[in-house]
Amino acid sequence: MSISQRKKDHLKIALQKKVEFFNKTSGFEKYDFTHCAVPELDLNSIDISTVFLNKKVSAPLMVTGITGGCREALKINKAIAEACSEQLIAVGVGSERQLFESSEFIESYRIVRTSAPNVPVIGNIGAAQLVSVKSFDKIKNLTDVIEADAIAVHLNPLQEMLQPEGDVNFKGVLNSIEKLSAQTDIPIIVKEIGCGISKQVAEKLYNAGIRYIDIAGAGGTSWAGIESFRQKERELALSFLDWGIPTAESLRQVRQFKDLHITASGGIRSGIDMAKAIALGADMCGAALPFLKTAVQSGRCGLNKMIGLWKDQLKGVLFLTGSQSIKMLRRPGVCVKSNE
Ligand SMILES: Cc1cc2nc3c(=O)[nH]c(=O)nc-3n(C[C@H](O)[C@H](O)[C@H](O)COP(=O)(O)O)c2cc1C
Repeated sequence: MSISQRKKDHLKIALQKKVEFFNKTSGFEKYDFTHCAVPELDLNSIDISTVFLNKKVSAPLMVTGITGGCREALKINKAIAEACSEQLIAVGVGSERQLFESSEFIESYRIVRTSAPNVPVIGNIGAAQLVSVKSFDKIKNLTDVIEADAIAVHLNPLQEMLQPEGDVNFKGVLNSIEKLSAQTDIPIIVKEIGCGISKQVAEKLYNAGIRYIDIAGAGGTSWAGIESFRQKERELALSFLDWGIPTAESLRQVRQFKDLHITASGGIRSGIDMAKAIALGADMCGAALPFLKTAVQSGRCGLNKMIGLWKDQLKGVLFLTGSQSIKMLRRPGVCVKSNE
């Protein structure tokens, strides 16, 4: 099956089927904010902007890699990128591996940069594919297409294991990441796609020179869920439906690396989830499935509304906890485990 057809299948399944975790949650519901009845703040003076990849963005939010490399991706990526440009938030493209096969759908990636010239745009490639790339010039070509501010390298062992055409040789992945990081000018963001990053893995990545990770933990999109709908024999995929480290737990494990920039994604579904992720140590938040669904159902306008709402929710949490800045959400006692 061509990569393009696979991309198309993933979109169709994610849009039409129930593909989120069944029994496992992101873990954010276990945390709550302590309400402050005397915030001593002017809501209108609260600033949630931040700097990401050397560019000022209006909020610590990005649309993480979703699609590219098939006909359907063009319209989706255009709507997402236009909304991200208007809202001044970062945006990623889906895996650019398809460009190794042909340049037929190159516009489905390029449209992201042409529609969002003013925000960080992040390229994307699989770690398993990185191993077989002979020269990193090929990766440079991928970043050039979208004038990328960074490239995301995704770790997806579960998905590769479940895909009939999966790339299951992960030997040498860490070494390839280390080499790429040493030879590339732009930052590398190592990300999972919904199973989380443990403390041990974060440590290995840190020692390999990586300073940006996106934990993409369990609790949102389940790739075992998506793959289960692509197969005749569904048992194996179904048995891994709830596999992974919940996002809140993954965040707790990786936050101790002081100069590691952490994006929290995987089940972030509101500005209140964003606030909890930041309180637990994230520098940036990301989401995929809700943006994909909104892009298809209500286009750029719907996305603008949704991103606006998430920003207002985040601002609201800052106001109601007496926090002038997003970092102030990390003060002791502001975000507490619900049963404490
Ligand atoms: C349809 C779909 C396609 C995706 N494709 C990619 C991809 O090509 N590369 C990647 O790094 N992540 C990909 N992801 C994973 C997301 O970037 C994200 O890490 C994951 O879905 C968890 O976030 P969520 O719970 O908000 O969806 C994809 C997600 C979806 C829903």
